[in-house]
Amino acid sequence: MTEQGVRLQDRRIALGITGSIAAYKAVDLLRLLQAEGADVRVLMTASATEFIGTLTLETLSRHPVDSDVLALQADGRIGHISTAHDVEAIVVAPATAHWLGAMANGLASDSITAACLATSVPVIVAPAMDGGMYAHPATQANVARLREFGYHLVEPEFGPLASGMVGQGRLASLDRIVDATVRALGGAPAAVAGAPTGAVSQSGAPGNSASAGSSRTDLAGRHVVVTAGGTAEPIDPVRFVGNRSSGKMGIAIAEEALDRGAAVTLILGNHTVEPPAGAHVAHAETAAEMEAALRALTPPSGPRFDVLVMTAAVADFRPHSPSAKKVSRSSGMTLEMVATPDLLAATAERVRTSIGASGARRPVLVGFAAETGSLERAEEKLRSKGVDLLVANDVTEPGSGFGTDTNKVTIYSSDGSSEELPLMAKREVAEFLLDRVAVRLAAIVGESAALAETN
Ligand code: CTP
Repeated sequence: MTEQGVRLQDRRIALGITGSIAAYKAVDLLRLLQAEGADVRVLMTASATEFIGTLTLETLSRHPVDSDVLALQADGRIGHISTAHDVEAIVVAPATAHWLGAMANGLASDSITAACLATSVPVIVAPAMDGGMYAHPATQANVARLREFGYHLVEPEFGPLASGMVGQGRLASLDRIVDATVRALGGAPAAVAGAPTGAVSQSGAPGNSASAGSSRTDLAGRHVVVTAGGTAEPIDPVRFVGNRSSGKMGIAIAEEALDRGAAVTLILGNHTVEPPAGAHVAHAETAAEMEAALRALTPPSGPRFDVLVMTAAVADFRPHSPSAKKVSRSSGMTLEMVATPDLLAATAERVRTSIGASGARRPVLVGFAAETGSLERAEEKLRSKGVDLLVANDVTEPGSGFGTDTNKVTIYSSDGSSEELPLMAKREVAEFLLDRVAVRLAAIVGESAALAETN
């Protein structure tokens, strides 16, 4: 619930629960959706009922649970069809690897896939499973297919899993799932219950009617990763070598991407402003931690994002041998520094190699460059880092320095063009930049569709 009040007042939402151990969290998700004002009815796969009882969900939702695709309602209507027509959004959480596969292929052997096939309302999907299962190319292909349907994917999080292992597979935090649902509904007025479905939404994609309510949803169903803030390289347990980055530019981009319907992962170093509630935040204090987070998102099976915007001020040097104990002032200090790797260039290289091998769709890569005195090195940085766009600013210009709310940037593009923007609010810079990114994304989707047709 927000301070402004509930965000899903009188919204009719179906919650689809599939057979993952994370099913127990769906009870809390139901309560959170209700706390936002939603009227929630529950659909379950047969295996989900092994994890939690229908009685719990019927009692809390005050609706019968539909766990049998063949069942008729008391009034004789077909359960999943009436749900498909009556609700305004379907939230599938947790979604197992099996369910993603069934949905990607339109196999309607449970009430949830059947309702999703029969509806044209937004579908929000929050997968949960073992990290290896999630990383498998089969699962990733199914996730990509669901994105093509216009479904809103809420990426699972990194962390300890039910197996005792650690990986990306934990059900996203319930707040993120609720936020994604709010965004998918786009603030559009509640539709009339029982209105016929099957209509094609404004964007032309069935199931993506989130577009209807908000002026810009050109990043709906996309995963945008933003690095922001500055890294802090330890000298000893107390002191570090850092920089003046506030994280404001990256956080503005994360906010803008969320508003445009994207799922956002924010890899965040030191920062002075709060990250947006809807983003999945991975804290990375040092260049090495940021590198590990980026590596996890760029496995050999292909990048796990559609857009990477690297605004972080990564330290170029770190102390060679940080002391395990606080260095006393009396002993003096001379620091030997070593260069850190270029994370953006290395990530771009891994992306190129992995898409070459896996055939995954290429993402849009954006770098930032804080220069002093002139932007003459920007074009060379664009090339050497292998990015699509490079946003350069001169931090010595008034209003363009660290910690300001404004920025004056020039956007260099790999097609050789450049755009010098006037001094504007960081949020406006974010809007301009994501306009450019959305155009590139659309071109990439067009390229892959043309390629698929010729194959
Ligand atoms: N960057 C990076 N890894 C580093 C340093 C920078 O990924 N070790 C990224 C930044 O996040 C930014 C881009 O590279 O997106 C440009 O950063 P910048 O500091 O301007 O470039 P450098 O490569 O560090 O070049 P120089 O220090 O010579 O200006």
